[in-house]
Amino acid sequence: MRPIQFGGLTLPHRAVFGPMAGFTDAACRRLMAQHGAGFTVSEMVSSRALTFGDHKTFSLLRPRTPGAPYGVQLFGEVPAIMGQAAAAIEGEDFDFLDINMGCPAPKIVSGGAGSALMLHPELCGEIVAAVKAHTSRPVTVKMRKGWDADHVTAVACAKACQEAGAALITVHARTRQQMYTPGIDLEIIRAVKQAVSVPVLGNGDIQTPEDALAMLRETGCDGVMIARGALGDPWLFERVNAAIEGLPQPPAPNLQARMNALRRQVEEMVQQKGERTAMPQARAQAIHYMKGLKGAGALRRACCQLTYLSDMDDLIAEVFAQQRRPEEAF
Ligand SMILES: Cc1cc2nc3c(=O)[nH]c(=O)nc-3n(C[C@H](O)[C@H](O)[C@H](O)COP(=O)(O)O)c2cc1C
Repeated sequence: MRPIQFGGLTLPHRAVFGPMAGFTDAACRRLMAQHGAGFTVSEMVSSRALTFGDHKTFSLLRPRTPGAPYGVQLFGEVPAIMGQAAAAIEGEDFDFLDINMGCPAPKIVSGGAGSALMLHPELCGEIVAAVKAHTSRPVTVKMRKGWDADHVTAVACAKACQEAGAALITVHARTRQQMYTPGIDLEIIRAVKQAVSVPVLGNGDIQTPEDALAMLRETGCDGVMIARGALGDPWLFERVNAAIEGLPQPPAPNLQARMNALRRQVEEMVQQKGERTAMPQARAQAIHYMKGLKGAGALRRACCQLTYLSDMDDLIAEVFAQQRRPEEAF
C-alpha cells in the first residue's frame, strides 16, 4: 500500500489526529505524533485575529509538532480575509494549511464560518483559491456531510475545493445539525472519495482498530482521522496503525506508562503556557486518562480540582490508591 501523499508531503501513517479547539495544543499534538499520528493539526484559529496580528492567536500555532507533518487550521468565511491570514502566517513553522468547514458552534456558524460554509459550495471553492494564492504550503479542507438532512453538500463542496486546488479532504460524516451524536454516515465518505481524485480521510467515532478498518473498507477512503478517541489514549494510534499495516497489535500500556504520559503532557503545557493558563486546561485532558479505571468517578472529581502542577502528584497517587482498593468497594 502506497503511503498517503499530498502537496509534496508523505504521511508516515494512515491514521491522523483531528484538530480540537481547547485540546490539541502543542503538548497534546507532540504526544499523538510520538505515538504514530500520521499528521497533527493546530486548534482552529480565527483568520481575522491573524490579520490583526493577535499574539495569543499566533501562540496557538507554536511550537510546530515534531515527528509528523503539522497543519495549521484557519476558520473564516471571507475569502480575502482568509487569504490575508494565510499570508500573515507564511513565516510560521508548519507544513500545510487546513480550512475549517465543519465547526458547528453557534458563535462560528452565526458569522457564516465553519460548517455554515457547507451551505455554499461555491464559496468553499473561493476560500480555497484565496488561501492558495497567499501560501506556499499545500491547502487541505476539513468538512462535514452537509448542513442538515436537506443540505447534504459534501460532494459538491469537495469538488469545488478540489477544483480550487485543495490537496486533501477530510469528511466528518455528520451534518451540522447532528453535531456530534447520531451514528456516522459512511456512505457520504464513499461518495466524496468517488467524486474527487485527491486523498480523502474519513472521520467520526473511531474508537478501535476495528472501527478504522471498517471505515477504510466500506468507504474506500485513503486514511482515517481520529479526534476524541485518542484523548487520554494516544496508544490508539499504535493500535490502529498496526491493524491498517497488518502488524500484530502492540501490548497495552500499563498504568505507570499512562500516568507518565499524562504527567509529561501537563508539565509541557505548564512550560509552554504557564501554570495559571495550563492547569484549567489540564483538568479536561486528565479526565480522559481516567477512562476505564477503578474509582473513575472520584478520580474525575479529583481532576477537576487540579490547580498547581504539584497537584498532579497527588492525583497520580490517588489513581494508584484507587486501583489497589478491593473490588467490593465499588
Ligand atoms: C471539543 C472539540 C473541539 C473540536 N474542535 C475542532 C476544531 O477546532 N476544528 C475542527 O476541524 N474540528 C474540531 N472538532 C471536530 C473533530 O476534529 C472531529 O471532526 C469530531 O470530533 C469527530 O471525530 P471523532 O469522533 O474522532 O472525535 C472538535 C471536536 C471536539 C469534540
